[in-house]
Amino acid sequence: MTTAALDYVTVSDPSEGSIRLHTPAAFEGMRKAGRLAAEVLDMLTQHVVPEAVTLDLDRLAYEHVRAAGADSATIFYRGYSHSLCISVNHVVCHGIPSARKLKDGDIVNIDVTVVVDGWHGDTSRMFLVGDVALKARRLVEVTYECLMRGIDMAKPGNTLGDVGHAIQSHAERNRMAVVRDFCGHGLGRVFHDAPNVVHLGKPGRGVLLRPGMFFTIEPMINLGGSAVKLLDDGWTAVTRDRSLSAQFEHSIGITETGAEIFTASPLGHTAPPYAG
Ligand code: MF3
Ligand code: CO
Ligand code: CO
Repeated sequence: MTTAALDYVTVSDPSEGSIRLHTPAAFEGMRKAGRLAAEVLDMLTQHVVPEAVTLDLDRLAYEHVRAAGADSATIFYRGYSHSLCISVNHVVCHGIPSARKLKDGDIVNIDVTVVVDGWHGDTSRMFLVGDVALKARRLVEVTYECLMRGIDMAKPGNTLGDVGHAIQSHAERNRMAVVRDFCGHGLGRVFHDAPNVVHLGKPGRGVLLRPGMFFTIEPMINLGGSAVKLLDDGWTAVTRDRSLSAQFEHSIGITETGAEIFTASPLGHTAPPYAG
């Protein structure tokens, strides 16, 4: 008989409870999961065009994940039944794939979470459908910059407040608003784990970052106000003022010197427009 070695130890945080510090073997697991999740978004890129049906994109993603011998983390997750969340224009997050067709000028977030050998890879990107208005493109660009500025602050000795502050200050300097109602999260063998990663904060506050912590950063940024409301389907979150919203997400691990991005695109895709 063999027993699996524990792939983490925990540290306790005064506000966040117990947070896992993962082993090198766990980093290896997250690399595989993160890569597959990023590959799904790479694969979808050429399909995100005017007239595309969002349910068809969901099926393509499901088939890619299953063909890789992996699972979707979101099918059966709290009653959700799709592989993707597809959030168009004023939808902030958790848009449900449907018969809806994408149209010229839409901005679209596609969020995917896969499970590979028990490890979770969670990532999302924005896509531009056809010709997109300058203001909307600017929102997408600033949102990507918010994510990357947050990741730049994610290193040992810094805190989650430093991460949140970098995101919030960049958004607000561009007269955009950070969504308060949803945040990033620890992940690993667990999909949504401690700590909560809020995309706002004060320098030096909050959880002290240590090597081996795994979490997502996934800022949702609005052109109008920060308020959101939930539609009757119980999932779809939209901006209260119907202004456009954008989001990018990476899963990262804190290393001795900084952060490793598990969900970097194998094709090198960052923010749109995506070449090739
Ligand atoms: N992938 C989302 C996140 O970033 C969670 C989606 S849960 C679902 O945490 F059920 F809506 F798919
Ligand atoms: Co997430
Ligand atoms: Co996600």
